[in-house]
Amino acid sequence: MDEGALRQELADLGRSLFDRGYSVGTAGNISVRLPDGYLMTPTSSCLGRLDPARISRLGSDWSHLSGDRPSKEVFLHRAVLTARPEAGAVVHLHSTHATAISCLAPEGGDAEVPALTPYFVMRIGRRLPCVPYYRPGDPAMEPAVRAAAQGAKALLLANHGPVVSGATLRDAVHAAEELEEAARLALLLRGVPGLRALTPAQVDDLLEVFG
Ligand code: 13P
Repeated sequence: MDEGALRQELADLGRSLFDRGYSVGTAGNISVRLPDGYLMTPTSSCLGRLDPARISRLGSDWSHLSGDRPSKEVFLHRAVLTARPEAGAVVHLHSTHATAISCLAPEGGDAEVPALTPYFVMRIGRRLPCVPYYRPGDPAMEPAVRAAAQGAKALLLANHGPVVSGATLRDAVHAAEELEEAARLALLLRGVPGLRALTPAQVDDLLEVFG
């Protein structure tokens, strides 16, 4: 896909996420890897109203080349895209249920989102690390995010929200949606007697076939 089409796809998917309540106000940011740099949503922009022509363009050294000023979370996106060379895009949201889990998960440990359904396992995998709290946009978060992203497609920022990578922009958006639904189910079913999660063998099978 050429850069123009990617810019349009970014605006379309941003609007779709916003319209369905995955992001509110100016929360959330998205980056896409290009052959010679990155696209990034501008700081303080609303994902529901992105202008494709004003999306920030960064060079391969992450310097700002054109478009509006990039998201303050550029360090977050750089950490994930550096740690995961196979990832083509990163989506950060403040979606309600995944953010709720980010307030419960142990900082520096793994969030306990049970493998209740196949698509959570297929899109996110086995692990969901929770990076300790940092102020939004704090460059100090970069090493901790990079370390967490090395072993996981998705992670949580403590008391802040989810960060999800994917091979393509579309994949990253789908995985972010799947994580939000898994978090919602996990909270809905927390402590419910008789709750059945997938077995370790079923999880292994999914990862072998789709992982
Ligand atoms: P930006 O508006 O700078 O992208 O920040 C929004 C956000 O979600 C911070 O985590």
